[in-house]
Amino acid sequence: MLAAKVAELLNDQINKEMYSAYLYLDMADYYEDESLEGFANWYYIQAQEEMDHALLFRKYLLNNGGKVTLEAIAKPDKVYTKYEDPLHAAFEHEQYVTALINNIYAAAYEEKDFRTMQFLDWFVKEQGEEEKNAGDMIKKFDLFGHDAKALYMLDNELKARVYAAPSLVLD
Ligand code: FEO
Repeated sequence: MLAAKVAELLNDQINKEMYSAYLYLDMADYYEDESLEGFANWYYIQAQEEMDHALLFRKYLLNNGGKVTLEAIAKPDKVYTKYEDPLHAAFEHEQYVTALINNIYAAAYEEKDFRTMQFLDWFVKEQGEEEKNAGDMIKKFDLFGHDAKALYMLDNELKARVYAAPSLVLD
């Protein structure tokens, strides 16, 4: 049986991950609009991954006797005026998500809820990758984003990203 606090935070995280998907879809839309299809592809896949994260929290909650309450998803309200704006917003957002995961982990630790801690271990590692990827996007843009030819090549490189289902599978 999940402690009420842990169950509440896990349920909240479904919404946060759905919002993350919205946020990245909005970034994909921005880049589609700017004809940077590689960047759009990158964030479209990122949105799919966030949906996967949301569904993992849903499944874990259901598998452990928790109740799922879906709340309204906030509207992405960021306005992007420069190509690099979404990259910085994404990096900041992933740092925020890491803090959310850590917060759930701390609540589980407090309750000696080792099962939830083990479940969250995957997300702890995943957040390390998410932050690194987001940081790398900024570095690459700083290096290549200000020259038209280099930006064209970078955009082409980002077209190669393909969706992969998460390595964590819950039955
Ligand atoms: Fe679900 Fe990007 O963290």
